[in-house]
Formats: sequence, C-alpha cells, structure tokens
Amino acid sequence: MKRIAVFASGSGSNAEKIITYFQDKPIADVSLVVYNKPDAFVLERAKKLSVPTLLINKDDLYESDEVINQLKDQQIDLIVLAGFLWLIPKKLIKAFPEKIINIHPALLPRFGGKGMYGLRVHQAVKEANDTETGITIHYVNEVYDAGTIIRQERVAVSEEDTPTTIAQKVQQLEHQYYPEVIESILQK
Ligand code: GRF
Repeated sequence: MKRIAVFASGSGSNAEKIITYFQDKPIADVSLVVYNKPDAFVLERAKKLSVPTLLINKDDLYESDEVINQLKDQQIDLIVLAGFLWLIPKKLIKAFPEKIINIHPALLPRFGGKGMYGLRVHQAVKEANDTETGITIHYVNEVYDAGTIIRQERVAVSEEDTPTTIAQKVQQLEHQYYPEVIESILQK
C-alpha cells in the first residue's frame, strides 16, 4: 500500500476527489493532507473523510526540516500538490526526487508561472482568444509550473465562455483525470 500526501491551500475539491478515489483501491491511500492556511476549506474535507492533517507555516517549509521529517516519518511515497500555492523548496525536491507532482489548470507552457493561479489563468485564456484550454499534470521542479509534463487533457473554449465557465470545464477535467494519473504513476 503506497502512502500519498496531498498538499493544498484552498478549497480542496481535488484533494477530496483523490481521497475518495483511493478509499476503495488496494494500491494506495491518502495518508496525510498538508495545508498552509488555518481556514482552508480542505481541512473540513479531510476531517470529514478522516484523513490526518498537518498545518504548516513558512518556517516549517523553508527554514527547517520539519516538513521533510514529518513526510519521512510517515513513510510518504508520493506528494501530490492540489492547489498548493507556495513554491516547493529545493531540499524537499531532493528528499523526494520524481515523487512530487502538480496539476495546473491550463495547457502549460501557456499561462503558467508565479502568480498564475485560480481565475487569473482562465482570464488570460479568454483574453488570448484561445479556442482550447485544459489541464497539465507535471513533475515539480524548482521553478513554478516548469517540471516535466506527465499528461495533458484538453477542452474547447467557445466565444460564449467566460473565465468562470472555463474554470468549471477545467475543474471537471481535473476531477476526472488527476486521481487516475496518480494511480498510474504509483503503478510504475
Ligand atoms: C485547481 O484548479 C488546480 O489546478 C490548481 O489549484 C486549483 C485547486 O482547486 N493548482 P481545489 O482547491 O482542488 O478545488
């Protein structure tokens, strides 16, 4: 049984999908939800699903080995970022080489990088008049949204779409594909 840690900063809808997906699978479970905002809704979701949580601050992540030690102690095999907005430090990447993945709500390398999250991404897609957008699941390296791409899935954008409707379409893809891509990585 592999052990997954999900990192999230906000609502945690992807975290919830991942937790429930693996609840009835013999391959893995979400053993820990790491979050960095005391009032993040992901906490309610994790509690409801009886998944242990860990609230971290910047010192834990950047100045000490607190986070790494906790993850190692808990024998975490894969770190899954799902709406986690802080840059992952080099030492954590070194401690978990090729074991940290992220999902981005656009077709990288378009509309990625620091500050490109949430509705801003979909506003940029709309402003660019792109006719498609999608999701990118990728390994995490030291640069925001720049690691090796694992999988992309696409959806059409029409003239009638607004940033909000684009967000809804993209979120559907995220919920549909992220759990199964995680599963296939764990099977490698
Ligand atoms: C998702 O759009 C994900 O792609 C991005 O952050 C958002 C998280 O949403 N990295 P949620 O908290 O899982 O609902």
